Amino acid sequence: MALATSRLAIVTGGNKGIGYAIVKDLCERFDGDVYLTARDVGRGEAAVGRLNELGLKPKFHQLDVTDTGSVAAFAKFVADSYAGIDVLVNNAAIAFKAATEPFGVQAEETLRVNYFALRSVCDTLFPLLVPEMFIYMLNVLVKSKFVYRTYFLRYC
Ligand SMILES: NC(=O)c1ccc[n+]([C@@H]2O[C@H](COP(=O)([O-])OP(=O)(O)OC[C@H]3O[C@@H](n4cnc5c(N)ncnc54)[C@H](OP(=O)(O)O)[C@@H]3O)[C@@H](O)[C@H]2O)c1
Repeated sequence: MALATSRLAIVTGGNKGIGYAIVKDLCERFDGDVYLTARDVGRGEAAVGRLNELGLKPKFHQLDVTDTGSVAAFAKFVADSYAGIDVLVNNAAIAFKAATEPFGVQAEETLRVNYFALRSVCDTLFPLLVPEMFIYMLNVLVKSKFVYRTYFLRYC
């Protein structure tokens, strides 16, 4: 398959919240393909539909950051289709709000998604980042008391 020549931006957890807003912003400003990814195909495609109604044209791919098979399939799709990743926004995360689960359960699940899954996504997708790019790292202090999250952005 011929590789697309367009630049590539990817947002994880793009179907709502901050991720959705970043996808919208990238669609308006980024010169290239913008991928809204979501763990749930229905929610992801619905979000793409809402952006289409605004005249924006994000592309969609399923990506559950906790599912190594999903991460590997997405990485293969990217490697088969694009020369590399220009922008990667690691946004997908969970936060317990007014939760009744015991603290230990909250901590374990939060670390599973917000740390170990993030690390797995980084390990898998970082080798696909386009080389010779400047790296902008925006550290975002999360309200969650468990971990810090990092947004990795690469621009020409
Ligand atoms: N809101 C804040 O005040 C705040 C402050 C600082 C930093 N942040 C950080 O900003 C980011 C977004 O926050 P938000 O408030 O926009 O959160 P949100 O509204 O809860 O959205 C989280 C997104 O992550 C997705 N997600 C969760 N688990 C996933 C998984 N296993 N695989 C793929 N996607 C998954 C969710 O998908 P579903 O719809 O399928 O659940 C949703 O699209 C997070 O990293 C958060 O920690 C937020």
